[in-house]
Order: sequence, then structure tokens, then C-alpha cells
Amino acid sequence: MSEDPQSVESLGGSNRVAVMVDAAFERAYTDEELRAIFEQADPQQLSQVKAQIVAVIADDPVQYSDTELTDLHRGLGIQEKHYSRLIRHMIEVLEAHGTGQELIDVILGRLAMYSNRITGMPNVDG
Ligand code: HEM
Repeated sequence: MSEDPQSVESLGGSNRVAVMVDAAFERAYTDEELRAIFEQADPQQLSQVKAQIVAVIADDPVQYSDTELTDLHRGLGIQEKHYSRLIRHMIEVLEAHGTGQELIDVILGRLAMYSNRITGMPNVDG
């Protein structure tokens, strides 16, 4: 049976996604644009961040409500450009692992849905 190219299972399951999210964060830590944001972060919390991003990518349940996610990121200075950059690192890692464009597009769509919750776009000044 051939695998569904849109299924995250074709990436090798959640464990494999976790390895790729780790790799994307390693890139993010050395990214000039993102460094300031992650420098203030608690490493233990970051493992929780990564676990939730794995859930988003794998279309598993996220353990936080939309409001909680917005509250947790408020004041961290995460703008749309930072969000895009972290996703860019994620895509590059997926590509490096030979992920097909179709699945990358699906993953991009899932991640894009969270952007407003994380950047708190409607009230950036407030
Ligand atoms: C789908 C997207 C995202 C999800 C689901 C997510 C999830 C989370 C969660 C659950 C926490 C709270 C962790 C805890 O207190 O235990 C958190 C905190 C945080 N997130 Fe995100 N996040 C996302 C995107 C981002 C992005 C794009 C950035 C940076 C560019 C980011 C940076 C941070 C930072 C710096 C913290 C604070 C860590 C700390 O309190 O020390 N997150 N995130």
C-alpha cells in the first residue's frame, strides 16, 4: 500500500517530527532575528513549546486554548516576521529530510493557523 503523502505518518510519526522540530529550534537559536526572543526563555518551557508545535504539525490535540496561547506569548515581542522565520527554519529542515511539497504545504497551513494567537496581532499595542 502506498502512503498518503499528506499524512504526517509518512514523515515517520510524531517522534520523527519531534526530531525535526528540535533541529528547527537549534537553527532558530543561532538566528540573529530570533536570538533575543529565545534568550529570555526558560529551557524547560521551550521543551513544552516544541511539544505543542509537534502536535500542531501532526494534527494532534494542542493542550492549550487559543486564549491561553495568546496570554502565554504576550510581552515576548513575537511579531509576524519572527513567526515566519521560525516556520522558515521548520520548512528547511523538512526539505532537508526529503519531505514532499504536498505535505509541506499541509504543515504550513496548520502552522499558519496559529500565527495570530502567538503574535496577538489584533492588539499589538495593548
Ligand atoms: C504553533 C505555534 C506555537 C505554539 C503551539 C506554541 C506554544 C507555546 C506554549 C504552550 C508555551 C508555554 C510553555 C510553558 O509555559 O510551559 C509557549 C511559550 C513560549 N513560546 Fe511559543 N508556541 C508557538 C509559537 C512560537 C513562536 C513562533 C515563537 C518564537 C518565535 C515562540 C516562542 C515562545 C517563547 C519564547 C515562550 C516562553 C518560554 C518561557 O516562558 O520561558 N512560540 N509557546
